[in-house]
Amino acid sequence: MSDPDREPQWRPEIAPLEFAHIDQVEVIEKLSYGMPWSHAMFAGELIKSSSICLGAFRLGRMIGYLIVSRYADDWHIMNLAVDPAWRQRGVARQLLENFLARTAGGYERGYTLEVRVSNDEAIRLYERLGFEARGVRRGYYLDNHEDAVIMWKDA
Ligand SMILES: CC(C)(COP(=O)(O)OP(=O)(O)OC[C@H]1O[C@@H](n2cnc3c(N)ncnc32)[C@H](O)[C@@H]1OP(=O)(O)O)[C@@H](O)C(=O)NCCC(=O)NCCS
Repeated sequence: MSDPDREPQWRPEIAPLEFAHIDQVEVIEKLSYGMPWSHAMFAGELIKSSSICLGAFRLGRMIGYLIVSRYADDWHIMNLAVDPAWRQRGVARQLLENFLARTAGGYERGYTLEVRVSNDEAIRLYERLGFEARGVRRGYYLDNHEDAVIMWKDA
């Protein structure tokens, strides 16, 4: 392979997000979503003791992030995005694997998320990591009233 970043052993550095990263997060967020989270929404997750917020970095530059919150005894995946220039290289998978390893063996029942029914790539990614569809929220997304698939992975 000519591109070293596509070698199988390439791995981003994964580390907890800090407030100083939010500006970089917002750049990727706006490239990834039609209804991006605000700065305050990211800051709100970072201050919660019940959230795990991780960034993926390459040479110090943020290329992706994952925001997860614990509600009662379930982990809710709230936000996951990768810089479009760095997609299809396993960054999202490695963020999720890092998070799953950090939370393995806890008392939580499992992990859940909502994803647009049209988001085939994300659905495939979650399925590869052991999530399965267990329901639909009709008209969940405000912009186009698209349905959400509810996915779960048992702990
Ligand atoms: C969904 C999203 C987070 C996936 O991020 P990603 O880093 O591209 O995901 P991964 O690389 O881990 O996996 C995606 C694909 O890349 C492939 N891939 C993984 N490593 C690879 C490598 N080294 N070389 C080539 N392809 C690779 C995977 O096999 C997978 O392909 P498949 O879907 O055909 O099976 C990203 O597309 C994104 O930010 N989308 C917009 C926001 C969004 O929809 N978030 C999810 C909301 S629920």
